Amino acid sequence: MPTTVDHACIIRGTVVSCRHDVAPQAGMDSLDSFTDGALHIADGVIRSLGPAAKVLAEAGTDHPPIHDFRGRLVVPGFIDIHTHCPQADIIASYGEALLTWLNRYAFPAEQRFAAPEVAEETAQFFMDELLRNGTTSALIMGTVHAHSADAILRAAHARGMRVAAGKLMMDRNCPEALQDTAASGVADSRELLRRWHGVGRLAYAISPRFAPTSSEAQLSGAGHLARECPEAYLQTHLAENSAEVAWVSELFPWAEDYLAVYEHFGLVRPGAVFAHCIHMTPAARQRLAEHGAATAFAATANLFLGSGLMDYPTQAALGLRTGLGTDIGAGTSFSLLRTAAAAYQIAALHGTPLSAAHLLYLATRGGARALDIDHRVGHFAPGMEADVVVLDPEGSRLSARRTAATDLEETLFALFTLGDERHVAATYVAGRPARGDISTGT
Ligand code: GUN
Ligand code: ZN
Repeated sequence: MPTTVDHACIIRGTVVSCRHDVAPQAGMDSLDSFTDGALHIADGVIRSLGPAAKVLAEAGTDHPPIHDFRGRLVVPGFIDIHTHCPQADIIASYGEALLTWLNRYAFPAEQRFAAPEVAEETAQFFMDELLRNGTTSALIMGTVHAHSADAILRAAHARGMRVAAGKLMMDRNCPEALQDTAASGVADSRELLRRWHGVGRLAYAISPRFAPTSSEAQLSGAGHLARECPEAYLQTHLAENSAEVAWVSELFPWAEDYLAVYEHFGLVRPGAVFAHCIHMTPAARQRLAEHGAATAFAATANLFLGSGLMDYPTQAALGLRTGLGTDIGAGTSFSLLRTAAAAYQIAALHGTPLSAAHLLYLATRGGARALDIDHRVGHFAPGMEADVVVLDPEGSRLSARRTAATDLEETLFALFTLGDERHVAATYVAGRPARGDISTGT
């Protein structure tokens, strides 16, 4: 049976995943973990998991190849719920603050996407970079150009990744070369949605960039499309920077606050993901939670642009769904390990240092819950899609020293504090190795 070798394997290592939702300071008892554990994967999904001895005994003598990662952590593939593919090349640009950074770096980079070959090449690079960092699912912004969404979704599809993306809608307050119109923004989005949503593991995200770059007519059109296609995601930015918030109140004087602009046009609903959510009143946070929307905690971007500190502990107490967003290129790393480290520090400044178990949750099951895909990915259970990342505590000299002779909690916390792409030994997408060295044993 030559094809079963390709479609089945047993991954052996320290298997760790969130048993259920994990509170910000919950302990390791909220995780399922098997120190010498194994995942039996067949046809892209998890067939069984547990102690290696049990999984191997059940697999019998005719078992598929064993990918031996003993001593390393086998966790669910990471989920990045907010990032920008076209900004891969402007990471680490001195932009001072959001609005100047957009004008100086983000908009020029996005104009380069007018050339389809630039979009294509950047999308390939971007997806490979996600995989190198252990990220197997993502919600991604393109540019205003329809072909940007094609390029991103095609690159994700070729790699089997669970990705949602959309072309930006923006018809004012940005360079003319980056403007669509109220009508063309909706028409192009509708066509892309029809072409891509539900193809394999892909989804479409209706993507008005943020309130300042859309006219009321365009926001209204986006709202109509969102009602027409309730299965589609919706992604935008909200209350990132205080100058942006002041600008929104000038542009939409009738709105009680920034969120009210999106509410007015029917853009706040389950499946909607709002990036940043820093400068929020308690009432706005409460409304977001009541609408069943989600927020992206873009921790490194918020620090890099000096935007402010999202009050994550208060959000979590409200039950507001939140995942991590690398927010490339305002964010400073593709790694959700680095992003979680920044989230830890921001939450600590709000008096709630996050536990090791919660950091794993934010990078995996929490992101899946924010995107309503937690029945498919984000934790390990029979029947779940087999997106897996193998983390190497010895990925750097320092982490090897720090994690020698410690327990799982200490090791996990150290990985989420010191880790980056060097600590990703392998990434599997739907059961297939996407990168990394695989030592096959018996
Ligand atoms: N707000 C509107 N556009 C953007 C963007 O590209 N990046 C970030 N961080 N914030 C935004
Ligand atoms: Zn963003």
